[in-house]
Amino acid sequence: MKIAVVGVGYVGLSTAVCIATKYSTVAIDVNEARVLNLRAGKVPIHERGLKGLLTSGLESKKLGFSSSLASLASCDAVFITVGTPSAADGSIELSQIRNASTGIGAAIRDSTKKPVVFLKSTVVPGTARSVVRPLVEKYSGMNCGNGFGLCSNPEFLREGSAIKDTLAPDRVVLGPFDDLSLRLARTFYEGFYGRNGPEVLVTTPEGAELVKYGSNALLATKVSLINLIAKVSEKFPGTDVQDVARGIGLDHRLGLHFLQAGPGFGGSCFPKDVRAFRKSTTDFGLDSSILESVLKINEEQPQHVVELAEKATSLQGREIAVLGLAFKPDTDDIRESRSFPLIWRLLERGGKVRVYDPVAMPAAKTVLKSRVVYSTSAQDCIKGADLAIAMTAWRQIKSLTPADYLKQMRSPVLVDARRMYDPDEYGRKLRYVAVGLGSEDRRP
Ligand code: UDX
Ligand code: UDX
Repeated sequence: MKIAVVGVGYVGLSTAVCIATKYSTVAIDVNEARVLNLRAGKVPIHERGLKGLLTSGLESKKLGFSSSLASLASCDAVFITVGTPSAADGSIELSQIRNASTGIGAAIRDSTKKPVVFLKSTVVPGTARSVVRPLVEKYSGMNCGNGFGLCSNPEFLREGSAIKDTLAPDRVVLGPFDDLSLRLARTFYEGFYGRNGPEVLVTTPEGAELVKYGSNALLATKVSLINLIAKVSEKFPGTDVQDVARGIGLDHRLGLHFLQAGPGFGGSCFPKDVRAFRKSTTDFGLDSSILESVLKINEEQPQHVVELAEKATSLQGREIAVLGLAFKPDTDDIRESRSFPLIWRLLERGGKVRVYDPVAMPAAKTVLKSRVVYSTSAQDCIKGADLAIAMTAWRQIKSLTPADYLKQMRSPVLVDARRMYDPDEYGRKLRYVAVGLGSEDRRP
């Protein structure tokens, strides 16, 4: 089998290097500089395991990169993994999907291989049918189900564990338009995962698109709900949302995952997907207030962290260390990271902000410019600070001990926005304030 992946962003690159462990793969992107770098083995993103698979794919020649769609005519399957960012009204912006569908159609015009197009990018229900299918049909001059196949096939990988999630997913979801694509999808996935691979769920194209939105909306809802529960916990001295979350999550119907209170969810998916899902449900004339609340709680969370800090110390003129800029650990992605609304608010309040992140500093500099001071390490960041706010649970930040904070800071006030430290240990030694922890000065 020969496979193409169109759009080599986070999802496309992780998908392509994994597919190339089994099948001959060409990964195609309009960004020529990116293609040249990848050919030279340079990874554009921080993702565990990516460099190794890229190198072995290039060495074995099973993985190639191109900025041209010409090779699609000889491929058996084409995965669309271009971005679907938010438009101003919250809906998804489909220009990359349109561009890719048009290009794919034109490129397979003379193909006799009956290639199957898999739509992996996250799109609202109905998009494959109303946008991708007509464009590929128009530009290929062929009918879906005859000259080519089409299948909605959402991905569920998480940044930071993208390779692991792609090689061992919980499930594969297929929404085929035709028998051709269902047959090829089964052969492809059985060949890739073997006979004891993940469960394969087959549904309609819209059903598959809805599985993705439903999953992300439910996960985001868990996060916002635990953040609301965190605020209630804070009203009662000694009450800790971590205990409450565990008590909730031990119910096997609910589960312990995605009940970690913090400064809110960020990243390239949850915020945009919940917004797009809200817009599409509203367009259907449905009540989307549950999704509105999820987003509203999330938007308020950075301000809430600022308020927690203000309860412990004033911000005006203070040296404030913000520890962590990536939207979560193990990635350099800062898209929708909660650290940024937090930093803007701290600056508005007259704080002097210095920042540290082990890998996301270059990306952060393009946004924060000269408004903040860039530190070279976590220790350097807290040196001489009056307040430290721990935002991303990187190992380098988690490993700061109470003694480090006491030794380095001018006045040791720590706001643990991610609940990465033990309140007993830190609370006894420093002024320690945390999301979801009923305030109690535990120092002797
Ligand atoms: C992905 C998904 O595709 C998106 O729908 C999902 O919700 C989140 O993950 P991501 O991998 O983050 O998006 O996208 P991004 O990092 O923006 O990369 C998209 C790539 O596609 C870019 O490199 C861009 O140059 C490329 N592209 C875009 C093409 O190659 N062709 C096009 O026509 C448009
Ligand atoms: C998410 C989905 O998990 C994945 O299935 C989908 O394909 C893409 O979107 P990702 O955005 O990479 O993946 O990260 P995820 O681990 O889900 O975290 C998203 C955000 O929620 C992060 O900012 C994280 O810190 C936050 N989060 C997550 C919490 O605040 N609490 C939690 O309990 C879990």
